[in-house]
This record gives sequence, structure tokens and C-alpha cells, in this order.
Amino acid sequence: MSAHRRLLHFSYALPVFIALLGLLVASSVSADPVVKGTVGESVVLPAGLSPQENPSEVEWGWGETTIALSDVNVSTEQFRDRVHLNRTDWSLTINLLRAEDSGEYKRVARAASGGQLPTRIVTLRVYEKIKLEVTTKPSNETCRATLLCTANQREHVSYRWKREDQDLPEHAGILQVSLSPGEINVTFTCIASNPVSEAAASIRESCADDGKATLWWWIYTAATIFLLLVFICIGMVVVLHKKKKRSKAVKETLEPQTIYAEIDRKSTQRNHVAPPSNAQQSKSLPSTVYATVTLKQAPGQSCTSQYDA
Ligand SMILES: *[C@@H]1O[C@H](CO)[C@@H](O)[C@H](O)[C@H]1NC(C)=O
Ligand SMILES: *[C@@H]1O[C@H](CO)[C@@H](O)[C@H](O)[C@H]1NC(C)=O
Ligand SMILES: *[C@@H]1O[C@H](CO)[C@@H](O)[C@H](O)[C@H]1NC(C)=O
Ligand SMILES: *[C@@H]1O[C@H](CO)[C@@H](O)[C@H](O)[C@H]1NC(C)=O
Repeated sequence: MSAHRRLLHFSYALPVFIALLGLLVASSVSADPVVKGTVGESVVLPAGLSPQENPSEVEWGWGETTIALSDVNVSTEQFRDRVHLNRTDWSLTINLLRAEDSGEYKRVARAASGGQLPTRIVTLRVYEKIKLEVTTKPSNETCRATLLCTANQREHVSYRWKREDQDLPEHAGILQVSLSPGEINVTFTCIASNPVSEAAASIRESCADDGKATLWWWIYTAATIFLLLVFICIGMVVVLHKKKKRSKAVKETLEPQTIYAEIDRKSTQRNHVAPPSNAQQSKSLPSTVYATVTLKQAPGQSCTSQYDA
């Protein structure tokens, strides 16, 4: 194999090697599972031991304390009468879960041969079962309301809303609703979930079709349209005014400008008549000429002048 081909071979082998390494790391990570539990309910923490491993002694620990040992009944303050070690698969059952049971549980096992088996860490996350309530925030506005979805917990909660059977885009615990006159008993539902549970609560909102509500609805709509029109008018006036100003400025530059210049003219050079006797004094007569100049702005061209006089 040439050096080049060997290099090629290596460059193919490297990604495969990295992928295998990644798989190995991933599998070792998945050996430390996360178990979710609900307050008041039971949870089983798997020991991750195969029957072939046949351990002689298994111990479950929580922090520094031992909470279960294969051949001794252990009793700790927190887990008293709540833990049970399954002596068949060595899993640990915790009953009547409390929020403070969350944390890392360590399973240590000794093989019948005397050696230590790989230790396993199981992470337990205990969540409270979600409970909800939907309330309407008091408001003076007719046919508009703010709905509040209140859960019994703040963290790890996600919300969604429905109007009758239709999903709404809001994903917060608060919803602004507005109804049209005549919409009666419209059901709004809040659905909240956390990693272990989901709950829903509903409220009915109405927009009575008495004359007053309709009147207010029309006033509101008319006012909105009026404001919109006012804004459009202001915008148009501003644009027109700007346009006018610009054309005026262009006009001003185009207005003819009279330029005066004083020049000295030697009378003798032009008039071939006999010079007057006082030629000595008026050898040069100052005279004024003027021209009216119109500046035209042509595209791509500088000013051109036009002499009118
Ligand atoms: C542990 O307690 C259970 C019942 O709670 C009992 O059957 C078992 O014999 C006890 N084991 C030891 C080693 O004391
Ligand atoms: C112990 O584990 C075995 C195997 O998973 C199961 O069949 C058995 O019902 C469990 N025993 C108890 C008391 O939970
Ligand atoms: C609602 O109206 C009442 C009286 O009509 C007033 O006292 C109160 O402050 C208003 N509340 C709000 C939130 O505007
Ligand atoms: C709206 O709900 C109320 C209270 O449940 C009920 O009395 C009323 O008949 C309902 N109205 C309509 C139009 O469904």
C-alpha cells in the first residue's frame, strides 16, 4: 500500500473511529438513567443488573446514607416505611413520593465471586401533579377580558389555550380575549402540562347582544377606522408637503439672475472720432453691463448659462 493510499485509508477510518467512540460514550451515559416521579405516587428505580451477574449483596444509597441493603432492613428518617428492595431484580421502589426525594440514587453491588460490579447512578426527578384554575381578571371593558390560568407550581410548566376546539397561538398563563356582540358562552380552555402530568380548566365568556354592547362595539370599530383614516391623511399631507418643497427649491434655482459687472472701456479704441478735449481725464470710461442668467439643471450635466442681454 502506498503512503498516499494508507493516508486515504486512515482518513476513512478516523470518522468511523470517532463515531464508535461517540456511541460508546452515549451508551455509558444512557447507563445513568433519569426517572420521573409524581408526588404521592410510587416509582421504581431499576438496578440495571442482569440475572447472570447474580450479585451477593446490593446496596442503594441516597447521598451519604444507605437506604436499602440486600440482607438488612434499613430504616432512615426520610424513607421510613416508604422504600422496598425487590430481592429478585434488586430494583428499589419508593412509595408516597415527596418533592425532596429528588436527587441521585447510587446502586452498589458485589458479585458472588467477591468483586465489585459497576456502580449505577439513577437520577430521580419528582414533580407535583399539576392542578389548574382559570379566572377572569376584572375589567370595565365590555366584550374584552383577560383570562388567567393559575397552576399549583411555577417551574417546568407549559401552557396552551383553546377557544372551543380551536388551538390558540398563546403559550403563557395569560390570555386576552375579545368577543363580538352576540357571542354567548364561548368556552376558553387552558391546558397546562409538566413532565409528569397534564391538566385542563375552562371558563365561559359572553358578549351580550344588548343594545349597549353593540353600540360600544360600533363606537370602538368606528373610532379605530377614523383613527386609521386620520393617520393616512397625515401621512399623505406630509408626503405632498415634502414634494412641494422640493419642486419649489428647484424653481428658485431656475429663476433668472441678473449679474452686473463694471468694465473699463477705452473710448478711443472704439470710436474713431476725434477724442474730446478732456481726453486726458476720461481716457477710460467705466461702464456697467448686466446679463440675466438662467441656470438650467439638466440631468448628468452641470449648469448651462443663457444670456438674455
Ligand atoms: C425485612 O422486613 C420484612 C418485612 O417488612 C421481613 O419479611 C424480612 O424478614 C426482614 N428482613 C430482615 C433481614 O430483617
Ligand atoms: C420484583 O421484580 C420481579 C422482576 O422484575 C417482578 O416480577 C416482581 O413482581 C417484583 N416484586 C415485587 C414485590 O415488586
Ligand atoms: C371600573 O369602573 C369603576 C367605576 O365605574 C371604577 O371605580 C374602577 O376604577 C374601574 N376599574 C378599572 C380597572 O378601570
Ligand atoms: C350560557 O350558560 C348559562 C350558564 O350555564 C346558561 O344558563 C345559558 O342558558 C347559556 N346560554 C346559551 C345561549 O347557551
